[in-house]
Amino acid sequence: MQTTSENTSNDHVKSKVKITNNRVQTSQLMELFEEKLKVILWTEKELTTIIPKMITLATSDDLILALTDHLHQTNEHITRLAKVFKTIDKKPATFKSNVMDGLIAEAGEIMEDCDKGPKCDAAIIAATQKIEHYEIATYGTLREYAETLNLREAERLLLKTLNEEKEADKKLTEVAVQSVNVEAASEKM
Ligand SMILES: [Fe+2]
Ligand SMILES: [Fe+2]
Repeated sequence: MQTTSENTSNDHVKSKVKITNNRVQTSQLMELFEEKLKVILWTEKELTTIIPKMITLATSDDLILALTDHLHQTNEHITRLAKVFKTIDKKPATFKSNVMDGLIAEAGEIMEDCDKGPKCDAAIIAATQKIEHYEIATYGTLREYAETLNLREAERLLLKTLNEEKEADKKLTEVAVQSVNVEAASEKM
């Protein structure tokens, strides 16, 4: 599995990656970098359609706030990804992710089946955190690739988004354990 460590030293590999005349050189890793960028851009765009539905269905004020904040961040992630594409002289493009498509479909089914209330809020958090973990894994990998490819600006942008995804995940855990799960546990069937 691809590491998401932020402190891995790749100096021995980095030295093999060259940027000549400000042109980004092609390589197998560069190809993979671009493919994964397309997948995460597709994902972020899908999320801008599903998060508003979650906000409409959620009842916990803390959850609504966390989701609303993350919807704004998701739009920023799309803008930031366009900048990352620019660092490799490419136009933003998307590629459908079967994994994320499945996770989003699952979230949609959960929302169709649940009545507003603590149980539904808890289910929304669970579905959202699965998606967040996928995003964290993907951004972690992309950041590592950018480091190896010596794409400093891309690495900086990807790290910023990676940290925001981690924070969003942490916030959802807080909302779950401090209120939503507790309320769902005290609700009778
Ligand atoms: Fe995101
Ligand atoms: Fe996210």
